Amino acid sequence: MPQIIDGKAISAQIKDEVRAKVQELKAAGVSVCLAVIQVGSDPASSVYVGNKKKACAYVGIESLAYELPEETTQEELLRLIGELNGRADVNGILVQLPLPKEIDENAVIRAIDPKKDVDGFHPQSVGALCIGQPGFVSCTPAGVIQLLKRSGIEIAGRECVVIGRSNIVGKPMSLLLLRENGTVTVAHSKTVNLQEVTRRADILIVAVGRPKMITREYVKEGAVVIDVGVHRNENNKLCGDVDYDDVAPVCSAITPVPGGVGPMTIAMLMHNCVEAADAR
Ligand code: GUN
Repeated sequence: MPQIIDGKAISAQIKDEVRAKVQELKAAGVSVCLAVIQVGSDPASSVYVGNKKKACAYVGIESLAYELPEETTQEELLRLIGELNGRADVNGILVQLPLPKEIDENAVIRAIDPKKDVDGFHPQSVGALCIGQPGFVSCTPAGVIQLLKRSGIEIAGRECVVIGRSNIVGKPMSLLLLRENGTVTVAHSKTVNLQEVTRRADILIVAVGRPKMITREYVKEGAVVIDVGVHRNENNKLCGDVDYDDVAPVCSAITPVPGGVGPMTIAMLMHNCVEAADAR
């Protein structure tokens, strides 16, 4: 049977490291504060925001919660971001996505001071990642790198295939694997002969957004499979983009859903908040 990569345990380890760092900063007179903005009351977003607040409390980061009504205008949101940009006591600013459709997400992301962009979504952060300069990295792909490294999985020189090219996961994921000296292919919905491409992978990262799409036909014997997807199936149970029961027997290591990539996102967010405070 494969190695099951335990995202819960690895994220707990990272949160404990962050907690120790927060205490160190506090001892030096530096406090860490994250502002979390949610517009509207999308239930999934409310759960994510609640989890972020809980993680902040655990690691000792102060959190400011802004729960704005659905009718909030773009101008009002931009004004709040401007105010938070100017506050010396706020280290990180996170605007929970998706935003109501009347608001231009890109304009909102661009408004965040790159020094406080703990989500790593600002074009300056993405550009810095692209050319190997310091900057914040999107939390989910950064978490995947930590899962691989802390599970003793070598990236350098290996064939890495990322399925998905979103700005939040697929694109930064491919850049991070490249930074780790992987040989990287990005596959997507227009890729011809997807199975042929994915079967080349030593490390297969799946972020397609379709429940259980990846079966063993897509996976080379002995590959490492990382599942970024989260869905609820017909019985309200969580499942990923990978058909776990089908794929697990043919791979060397795999992340489960839940308990794989999911918990890593918040751990890396906490890590980014501390970096933001430490850099000041
Ligand atoms: N919505 C879904 N994932 C994320 C995330 O990582 N950050 C933010 N801000 N919104 C999200």
